[in-house]
Formats: sequence, structure tokens, C-alpha cells
Amino acid sequence: MSLTNTQEWQALKLHHQAICNIHMKDMFASDSERGRKFSLRVGPIFLDYSKNRITDETIKLLMALANKCEVKRERDRMFKGETLNFTEGRSVLHVALRNHFDCPIKVNGKDVMPNVKAVVEKMYYFVERVRSGIWQGYTGKKVTDIVNIGIGGSDLGPMMVTEALSPYWHPDIQPHFVSNVDGTHIAETLKHLDAQTTLFIIASKTFTTQETLTNAHSARAWLCEKLGSENAVAKHFVAVSTAAQEVAKFGIDTANMFEFWDWVGGRYSLWSAIGLPIACMIGTENFSKLLAGANAMDEHFCNATLDKNMPVLLAMLGVWYNNFFNFTSHAVLPYDQYLHRLPAYLQQVDMESNGKRVDRSGAEIKDYATGPIIWGEPGTNGQHAFYQLLHQGTQLIPADFIAPAKTHNHIGDHHPILLANFFAQTEALMCGKTEDEVRCELEAANLPKDKVELLIPHKIFPGNRPTNSFLIDEISPESLGMLLAMYEHKIFVQGIVWNVNSYDQWGVELGKQLAKRILPELKDKQSISTHDSSTNQLINEYKSSV
Ligand code: F6P
Repeated sequence: MSLTNTQEWQALKLHHQAICNIHMKDMFASDSERGRKFSLRVGPIFLDYSKNRITDETIKLLMALANKCEVKRERDRMFKGETLNFTEGRSVLHVALRNHFDCPIKVNGKDVMPNVKAVVEKMYYFVERVRSGIWQGYTGKKVTDIVNIGIGGSDLGPMMVTEALSPYWHPDIQPHFVSNVDGTHIAETLKHLDAQTTLFIIASKTFTTQETLTNAHSARAWLCEKLGSENAVAKHFVAVSTAAQEVAKFGIDTANMFEFWDWVGGRYSLWSAIGLPIACMIGTENFSKLLAGANAMDEHFCNATLDKNMPVLLAMLGVWYNNFFNFTSHAVLPYDQYLHRLPAYLQQVDMESNGKRVDRSGAEIKDYATGPIIWGEPGTNGQHAFYQLLHQGTQLIPADFIAPAKTHNHIGDHHPILLANFFAQTEALMCGKTEDEVRCELEAANLPKDKVELLIPHKIFPGNRPTNSFLIDEISPESLGMLLAMYEHKIFVQGIVWNVNSYDQWGVELGKQLAKRILPELKDKQSISTHDSSTNQLINEYKSSV
């Protein structure tokens, strides 16, 4: 039976009609316990989801849908290493990378844990040597700069986490992340670096990604030119990949390669050797804490009942808005500068996972929406940019507000000011401001009557705009690990409900294929006529201007 024809979906549809016009302000007024009732703590993460357009009945019906879609059964299949990513014939086992309890996890009958542990040991040995200065460059100097060259999951996860955990950095090493094939990215990064003290980590699951290999070749040419020898490569390049042959082909000794496996999806790979730059910057103990935090969220996800299960609740609230209110986007608003790349990271994890148009049987999905648009910026910057639309625009955009209770930087009143803004924004989005309230304010300011009437409609805030509030004790390796695993599992649950394969990404292939076809066409002066008239025109315009 199709999803929308299930009794559970239909019940939610009817329930939506019944409550969609109720204002959250009234829900709070009629239940003084609402804040407490709709909140949940998992370790260092406190989630208040009471500022959502929900009642007890909504949660009950959403959980009934989750049950109908066999979320628990599918979750257990994932943790058992079954082939959830069936279009690529792969298990989905990033959870094995943070499985600290020595319980075997099997893929095709073989326990993956011994290999996972062996790579962690190899990584940690290397990390200790780099951090202590035992690992030296070609001219005998310690590493002062680490350049991670990767893109997508081989960039966004390690970059976001490294940034988020900057209070834990090694004091004498600086990280750099190069992803864009635009030569400006690598040129501007290398401009300030000393080749003698620079270590390159070439991170690519496939080791065939055009952007990464182009940047890696340019980095190698730079290094060899600066140090005057090809022999320098062995001391300045390491690789993280599933493809040993490709790594060797590039010229990196596979002894300097850190392996991971096809059952780790690129966007779920920061827990694997792809996390090498993170471990180099924060140390092995803190990297282990990051994994332990994620593992604690895995445990919660596996053991908590659905209606007290943070990833499940968040996923089903997302379904509620995406499919019943037709809110098509979701904002991620970290009130923490350290988390400034979290929205970009979540954009890939969520949109590459659930941005799908066919269901698991291959049938086109025609009667419900799948993954929403994910976007955001750190508060308070966003407040002075796009919050106008959040408050008064015609589109309603549910948002996650995320802040640490404790700051790493105690400077004057910065942190209370930051948090006051967080709390004020979620309150304003929920309550809004009525015509009467606006009128009172304007009259109290003694404005002339015609001015009052002119201003009133512009100053009304309808409110009733949903938010989740996350208050995290402190941004630490453990709490960050938990937060990221929470989002991973939220995305998993939504993929199950929407009945899509969240673990492939065929949608990125067509552009890559066409770019490969176009590249040779850009190399001479000949006019091109093999494409549509727009593409021909753009190519020819480019060729005539260089
Ligand atoms: O953009 C597609 C994609 O395959 C992502 O899923 C992946 O994270 C990225 O490219 C990088 O791939 P690789 O690690 O193989 O270089």
C-alpha cells in the first residue's frame, strides 16, 4: 500500500485539518506544563520541542506512522550490517566506526570490527607522531600546517568538526581545507605555507574525484618544486581512501594510506580515517571522545521508545511539516561561532541522502514530498540577514536553534547577549505580535493616528512559526559527537518513512559526466555546436574571451 493511503497517514491528514489553525500561543496558555512535557534530555543535549504545532495527539499519530513504516525493524537491520544501500549493494555501517563495545558487526558474514580497530590504531600512531614532532618533513622539520584536500563528505565533516573543536587544537599546528577545484582555493591556501612543514592529507573515498585529484596534483607539484625533489612526497603526503590501487597510482606509498570501506558512506565518514585531520588537531583522546559521544547517541537511538527518542521525534516533526503543512525548507541556526559550518555540513548529509524522487521499488514518488531544503547560518548574523523572512514572510520555515549553555570564551557579556537573542527569537517566532499589541505600542509612542494606521499591518508578526531549541551543556568532543549522530539518525528515520534509499547519490553523476565531455571542448579555439543552443553559446562565449 502506498504511504499516503495508509490509515496512519490519513489520520495525520485529518488531524492536520483539525489543528492547523490553532495558534501555539493558545496551546501554551491552556497547558502550563507544555514546555516540560515536550522536552527531552539525552546526556549533554537538552531539546525543547514544545514550540512546535503539535498536541499529544500529534505525537501519538506521528509515532503510529513511524511504527507503520517499520522504523525499528529498519534501524535494527542497519545496525546488523544488512544491505540497506541496495542500489550500490552496500551495508550502511558508519555506526560500526564508533562501536566501542567490542560486539562484532558482520558484513557478508565477516566481522568488520578487527579492521576498524586496526585502522584506528594506525591512525592514532600516526597522529601521535605528527603532534609530538616525531614525524618530520623531508628537511627534518616538524609539521606546522595540515592541508586536507577532499570534497563533499571528504571535506565538510572533517572541516566542520575541526572548526567546531578549535578550543581543543594543538597549539602549534594549523589546519587548512581545500575542496574547490577553482585554482584560487589551493593557490590562496599555499601562498602562506612553508612546504618544509606542510603535511597534505588527500582524502577521497574513491580516489577518482576530479576536484580532489586536480588539487592533489597541484599540491604535489608545488611541494616538489619548493623542496626540489620528488622524494619529498613520501614525507608530506598521506592518503585516506577505500581505493589502495588509485592511491598507489597517484604516487603515495600505501604504507601512508589510511583505509576505510565501501560500507561507510562519504557523507557519514567523518568517524572513519576521514577524521584524520580532526584527530591531528584535537588529539587521539579527544577523537575517541567524539566517537564515544556518537556511540552514546546510537545507544539512545536503539534503546529509547519512539516517543522519547530524540532522532525519531525530530524526524517525525520534519515529516509533519514537510508532508502535512507543506513547509519545504528547514533552517539550522547555530548560536555558536564554532558551529559555523554545521549548516553546510548538514546540507550534504540531509539533501544528498533524502533528495530522492523514486521510492525503494523504483517507482516515482508523486503524492508526497521527500527531503526538504536545508540551509542556515550562525545566529546572530542570520538575524540581520534573513530572519525578516522567517518572521514575516509568506513561507513558513521550521528551524533548529542550537546553542551551548557554557561558552569556551568568557568575554564580558557576550554569551548572555548571544543566548538572550536565541531565546528571544524562538519566543518571537512562536508568539508573534498582534494588531492590538502593535496599536498599543504605537499609540504609547504618541504617533499621529494616520501614521499609526499606516504602520500597523507592517508591524504585525503572525507568529505560530515552529522551532526546536537545543541547549547543549558545552561544545565538546562528546556533545558534538552526539549531536551529529542525532542528525544522522533523524535523516535515516525520514528516509525510511519516505521509503527512499538514503545512502546512494546518483543525482550527482550526470553533471560529472557532462563536465568530462565538455572539458576537452574547452581546450582549443574551435566553435562548438554539439549541445543545445544555450550551452553552445556559453562555451563559445568563454572560448572567444580567453
Ligand atoms: O558529490 C558526490 C560524492 O560522491 C559525495 O557523496 C562524496 O562525499 C564526494 O563526492 C567525494 O567523494 P570522494 O570521497 O570519493 O572523493
